[in-house]
Amino acid sequence: MKFSQVVYVLSCAASAIASRAVQGLHRRGDHVSPRPQIVYSPETPTTPPPTPKQRNVTCFVESHGDYATDDSEFILDAFHKCNNGGHVVFRESETYIIGTAMDWTFLQSIDIDIQGEILFSNDTTYWQANSFPFIFQNVTSFFKLGGDDVFIYGGGTLNGNGQVWYDAYAANIYTLRPVLVGVDGLTNSIVSDLVLRYSPEYYHFVANASNVVFNNIDIAGGSVSENPAKNTDGWDTYRSNSVTIQNSVINNGDDCVSFKPNSTNILVQSLFCNGSHGISVGSLGQYVGEYDIVEHVFVSNISMHNASDGARIKIWPNTASAVSGDLQGGGGDGRVNNITYTDFFIDNVDYAIEVDQCYGQKNLTLCLEYPSPLTITNVVFNGFQGVTSDHYMPQVANFACSSTTACSNIVSTDFDVLSPNGTNEAYCLNFEQEVLDGVTCVDTLLGFN
Ligand SMILES: *[C@@H]1O[C@H](CO)[C@@H](O)[C@H](O)[C@H]1NC(C)=O
Ligand SMILES: *[C@@H]1O[C@H](CO)[C@@H](O)[C@H](O)[C@H]1NC(C)=O
Ligand SMILES: *[C@@H]1O[C@H](CO)[C@@H](O)[C@H](O)[C@H]1NC(C)=O
Ligand SMILES: *[C@@H]1O[C@H](CO)[C@@H](O)[C@H](O)[C@H]1NC(C)=O
Ligand SMILES: *[C@@H]1O[C@H](CO)[C@@H](O)[C@H](O)[C@H]1NC(C)=O
Ligand SMILES: *[C@@H]1O[C@H](CO)[C@@H](O)[C@H](O)[C@H]1NC(C)=O
Ligand SMILES: *[C@@H]1O[C@H](CO)[C@@H](O)[C@H](O)[C@H]1NC(C)=O
Ligand SMILES: *[C@@H]1O[C@H](CO)[C@@H](O)[C@H](O)[C@H]1NC(C)=O
Ligand SMILES: *[C@@H]1O[C@H](CO)[C@@H](O)[C@H](O)[C@H]1NC(C)=O
Ligand SMILES: *[C@@H]1O[C@H](CO)[C@@H](O)[C@H](O)[C@H]1NC(C)=O
Ligand SMILES: *[C@@H]1O[C@H](CO)[C@@H](O)[C@H](O)[C@H]1NC(C)=O
Repeated sequence: MKFSQVVYVLSCAASAIASRAVQGLHRRGDHVSPRPQIVYSPETPTTPPPTPKQRNVTCFVESHGDYATDDSEFILDAFHKCNNGGHVVFRESETYIIGTAMDWTFLQSIDIDIQGEILFSNDTTYWQANSFPFIFQNVTSFFKLGGDDVFIYGGGTLNGNGQVWYDAYAANIYTLRPVLVGVDGLTNSIVSDLVLRYSPEYYHFVANASNVVFNNIDIAGGSVSENPAKNTDGWDTYRSNSVTIQNSVINNGDDCVSFKPNSTNILVQSLFCNGSHGISVGSLGQYVGEYDIVEHVFVSNISMHNASDGARIKIWPNTASAVSGDLQGGGGDGRVNNITYTDFFIDNVDYAIEVDQCYGQKNLTLCLEYPSPLTITNVVFNGFQGVTSDHYMPQVANFACSSTTACSNIVSTDFDVLSPNGTNEAYCLNFEQEVLDGVTCVDTLLGFN
């Protein structure tokens, strides 16, 4: 296929596109996907979610079709041709290869209909030199998605070709692994009905987003070598306001969703998480001199299986600490306020709830000597039920504040979680037993980070 555009207007037989202008060569089987209906349940976002206008022109993305040659130019061509009111289709029968870092922050009033597969090349040298930096925790991405009034759907697959990255990271922890979906500056947009596989690192890093919805996303991918797929968070939000994440299935090996610095008005609901580190506020307080805010977060109707945590708040202490060589920090300030975790089903999870201000620090004495100045206020854990793993048995939760002043009004109500042998103990530090329904506070610390 030559890289020349055939403009083909109003002569296609497929009824779904008969009334539109079509750009690109029309092929048998070409069709546009109907837009998905987005249902918000059990909660409705506090900011009215986006309602994109209809588009009036369609662009099919061409492909070399050889499973090897970079198709990026075809993609950019279709995005530019159909920007400002069009509908771009990635054909159902195609695998598109991406071997070039693409800046997609120019998108405006566009539907992106991914029916086929988008596969990122395995050239770790190229990607480490060219992927987009996101400042926070050395995050980079294959592409940068941004703009306004973008509606992505279609049921297709984004495949991060993760195995080469899992192996490269095992050989060198400073390998910069791209996240699969990098969002920077996206507003009034919806991403729905996608299959995400084998991300090298996080599946989504959502930065500078406002009024964005993620719906019906199917996440999975693991390693087939002895090197595990590490840091495969489902979603991380950062510098973002009014984000909804819902109706999704996440099979991964790190946070199912996590709220990084300056995440506000976030709604997370109706997720099935398997194998994760739970739904986490943080980590926060990582960088000296920074003030991190996570506020007005509502997490509801979560089914949490085979995880280290259900609901978690993780804060670095006020002293230099390290989880690993490539993850170090401590000494930052900030606030966590108005967080609700409600209706959690717990199945084989190490801690149903974990509040921790000693993230990355193995020396508890040091944490108490240098408690985090970051405050945690107005947090509700409500309606947890199920059975934990035997990892911290007889304990089922951990409520630890490093000082008497940092935490206030953190409560657990309607907590009905037991360990496999029927116990409900929890380590409590600077917490009042009276506000922690359903657990028996003890002062023996079993698990730590
Ligand atoms: C499509 O809609 C846009 C904005 O609504 C308009 O500017 C443009 O002329 C329309 N294009 C066609 C081909 O109808
Ligand atoms: C990388 O992908 C190419 C095909 O594009 C393949 O020939 C090669 O074996 C792959 N390399 C690795 C290390 O998987
Ligand atoms: C987000 O927006 C800020 C302010 O415009 C900008 O400095 C930053 O580079 C953007 N991206 C990220 C990842 O923070
Ligand atoms: C970022 O990477 C550098 C080396 O590439 C490493 O020294 C540093 O610890 C990393 N920082 C974080 C926050 O991961
Ligand atoms: C978060 O917001 C606070 C208050 O506006 C600001 O001081 C801080 O720099 C922001 N942090 C980031 C990472 O944007
Ligand atoms: C709760 O989430 C599950 C998926 O885990 C979904 O099937 C169910 O419909 C959700 N309930 C409500 C009330 O939205
Ligand atoms: C949950 O994860 C485990 C371990 O990876 C896997 O065996 C199991 O099939 C997963 N469950 C579902 C429903 O995907
Ligand atoms: C707490 O956050 C919720 C959104 O989760 C919001 O509706 C509510 O107004 C906030 N409450 C306060 C007191 O700010
Ligand atoms: C939890 O993991 C076990 C073992 O890997 C697996 O058999 C089981 O299906 C998982 N649970 C769910 C709900 O997927
Ligand atoms: C832990 O920190 C305390 C207080 O600074 C120090 O006295 C102690 O030696 C440290 N323990 C270890 C094992 O490093
Ligand atoms: C539960 O298991 C723990 C750890 O093995 C043990 O200390 C405790 O006595 C057990 N409790 C019951 C009720 O069996």
